[in-house]
Amino acid sequence: MKKVITYGTFDLLHPGHVNLLRRAKELGDYLIVAVSTDAFNKLKHKESFLPYDDRKMVVEAIRYVDEVIPEESWDQKVIDVEKLGVDVFVIGDDWAGEFDFLKPHCEVVYLTRTPDISTTKIKTGLGKGQA
Ligand code: CTP
Repeated sequence: MKKVITYGTFDLLHPGHVNLLRRAKELGDYLIVAVSTDAFNKLKHKESFLPYDDRKMVVEAIRYVDEVIPEESWDQKVIDVEKLGVDVFVIGDDWAGEFDFLKPHCEVVYLTRTPDISTTKIKTGLGKGQA
């Protein structure tokens, strides 16, 4: 079984997230999503609208997702890949090159982001009644 892993905050789930998760699953048989915890987001100077438990619940409900684990630090990726027997690490190309250090441990894939949608854009647009 080919295992794929991806990492992210996944706040206010939107079509860009779903496209990423669908294409991630297509790269293998079993998709693990590491969702950033609230404490880790704080470390990244990011604040989500939904708390971790809600973001986890929503991501778990996506048909392409087999398992959700917490993302708690920058350093856990090599450990996760080895411990969980991951074959492919995948993330959007806003991170292009950033995770090449995983290449001795698994395949590393950067997927093109879906244009014109992001959690930030939703948050900004809400007051105006549009995404
Ligand atoms: N992603 C994507 N296309 C988008 C938005 C996000 O492919 N339009 C991908 C990111 O590249 C990442 C994953 O979805 O691999 C989770 O991204 P996240 O940072 O949670 O979503 P954003 O919408 O980018 O959030 P923010 O605006 O807060 O940065």
